[in-house]
Amino acid sequence: AAARAPLPKEEFGDLVAALPRKEQFLDGRFYQGFWLPEHYAPGIIAFQRRFTPRTEDVVLVSYPKCGTTWLKALAFAAMTRAAYPPAAAGDHHHHPLLRLNPHDCIPFVEDFFTDGHEAKLDMLPSPRLINTHTPYPLLPETVTGGDDGCKVVYICRDPKDMVVSLYHFMRRLQPDLSFAGVVDSVADGTVPFGPMWDHILGYWRASISRPDRVLFLKYEDLLRDAGEHVRAMARFMGRPFSAAEEAAGAVASVVELCSFEKMKGLEVNRRGTAGSYKSMPRDAFFRKGVAGDWANHMSPETAARLDGIFRDRFRGTGLTI
Ligand code: A3P
Repeated sequence: AAARAPLPKEEFGDLVAALPRKEQFLDGRFYQGFWLPEHYAPGIIAFQRRFTPRTEDVVLVSYPKCGTTWLKALAFAAMTRAAYPPAAAGDHHHHPLLRLNPHDCIPFVEDFFTDGHEAKLDMLPSPRLINTHTPYPLLPETVTGGDDGCKVVYICRDPKDMVVSLYHFMRRLQPDLSFAGVVDSVADGTVPFGPMWDHILGYWRASISRPDRVLFLKYEDLLRDAGEHVRAMARFMGRPFSAAEEAAGAVASVVELCSFEKMKGLEVNRRGTAGSYKSMPRDAFFRKGVAGDWANHMSPETAARLDGIFRDRFRGTGLTI
């Protein structure tokens, strides 16, 4: 039999084993300034070293629990609207987002590289949409360097609501998870993919220095006016909505198709699991879908503690959350 190429966990096993480690609800390894989930660290290193972007690629990046699923759905619906008109989606199940969870429509870099399936990314036709939680400084230089790199869309969210969302998500796997423990790991920066402030700031700064390459979105802004940001994202991805599409209500159709109520209610999102690692029940990706749920979960003191940390970190950057 032909020799199998080593998996990243074999290829980079020694490198990862030598990194600082933290045991928590998702064990971490500290690599180049960030706490990567241990399971994904080798795959992320492989991505960093080997990924070759195409100019037409759009990489969707998020901090976990900040709107990944929504961003994936919106970008997919906008990007594929010629082939799959959202307006015609109606009751017919011909639109992929009516049949598939958004995570099954757009490849997740961490899973693909970790599982040794990176060649599948090469086989995808352009323009490719791919998704990762990789921090900006760890992205392949081919993505961030020069003018040839591809485009990046980032979404972030109020850290307090991220904490609540992460807690509920992880609790599906670990029912006795402590809320205070999640708060502490966000506050001290050791949360998976943390420090969260550095994750956000990397993309925030890149969106200022390379605005044609990096688009920065906020979950709360999308809640206020998703259409405005779908328009901006389509333009950014090189697929602006035409006047005729605008007149036909195409933007609203995308927003409607990807709305929380619509997606949460779909049969496909009510059963089964998504993801290769810690495969999650699909309904865990659709919990409440609002801003401000933190007020139902944390004391004013805890909220002020988190706000203070992020305010300090963001001071002078022009970013407010
Ligand atoms: P809550 O737990 O606060 O409800 P991610 O997709 O990055 O894992 O983030 C999950 C969060 O996004 C969850 O927040 C989830 O409910 C919310 N979400 C998922 N799909 C959404 C949609 N279509 N519109 C708005 N919010 C959505």
